[in-house]
Amino acid sequence: MIPSSDEKRKLYQLSLKQVKEALADETDITALLASVVCILKTNLPHGFWIGFYRVDTKNPRQLVVGPYQGTFGCLRIDFGAGVCGTCAERREAVIVADVHQFPGHIACDAASASEIVLPLFDQTGSLYAVLDLDAVKLGAFDEVDQHGLEAILEIIRKKL
Ligand code: SME
Repeated sequence: MIPSSDEKRKLYQLSLKQVKEALADETDITALLASVVCILKTNLPHGFWIGFYRVDTKNPRQLVVGPYQGTFGCLRIDFGAGVCGTCAERREAVIVADVHQFPGHIACDAASASEIVLPLFDQTGSLYAVLDLDAVKLGAFDEVDQHGLEAILEIIRKKL
């Protein structure tokens, strides 16, 4: 089920509140990323697969999977490849209403139909990771998701 815009706003407000409360005193990055994924996966009914791909420090043109919840995710994605790699290359959010129409989409799970991917920067402005959400319905994500997720990523960015 895809929530209405009003429902989405409430779900993101709740998620932001939980993230702020749960992570206020935490600095460990794995704990932060894993907990954000858990909170989002618990709250968002349209989030079939939710997780982070981190920039590989040994190969900075490649993403490597980080904390996620969902079915088995591809381990590595090159910059420029698929939706995640496109987000990493452009350094901006990418919303795809129908992944089958997106050239080079990487189908980790054939059930995925739409997707949103957002960049997570550190405090120096370097790309640290991307946050990827997949849905089994077409057109599940829009600007309401983007703004809700950006507010949550901002909490993490301040700790990077
Ligand atoms: N579909 C993504 C790959 C990651 S998975 O969906 C978990 C992409 O095209 O980048």
